[in-house]
Amino acid sequence: MADLERAALDARTRAHAPYSGFRVGCALELEDGRVVTGANVENASYGLSMCAERVAVGAAVAAGARRFRKLVLATGGNEPVAPCGACRQVLWEFAPDLEIVSVTSDGRRATWTLHELLPLGFDLEHGDKD
Ligand code: THU
Repeated sequence: MADLERAALDARTRAHAPYSGFRVGCALELEDGRVVTGANVENASYGLSMCAERVAVGAAVAAGARRFRKLVLATGGNEPVAPCGACRQVLWEFAPDLEIVSVTSDGRRATWTLHELLPLGFDLEHGDKD
C-alpha cells in the first residue's frame, strides 16, 4: 500500500466522530512532497463538525503550504466515498487539478480528479462588486 494511503488510514484512527460513528482520515501530499493529515472532528453542536479534508487543508495552509498534488481519503464501510461538496469547493481554491483517491479500510479504492467531481468551481472575480 502507498505511503499516502497508510497516512490517511492512520489519520482516520484519530478522528473524533462520536455522533455519526463515521470516521474519516485524509492525507494531503504537498507540492514539495511533504504529507499533511487531517481527521473529522465532530461536535455536540452537530453543525460545527469539521470534515477530514478541511482539517487537512487548514493544517497545510497553517504550515505554509498552498499547493497540493494528491489527496487520499480513508473511510470504513463497503464503498469508497467521494469528498462532500463543501470540501470540493475548499480544495478547488488551492488545487483545481488535484488527484483524489478514496480508500476503505478493507482495501477498496476509487480515483477521480477534482475537475471531475467539481466541473465548475467558484472563483471570485476581483472586479466591481454591485
Ligand atoms: N465527513 C468527512 O470528514 N468528509 C467528507 O467528505 C464527508 C463527511 C465527515 C463529517 C462527519 O463527521 C461524518 O463524516 C459524517 O458525515
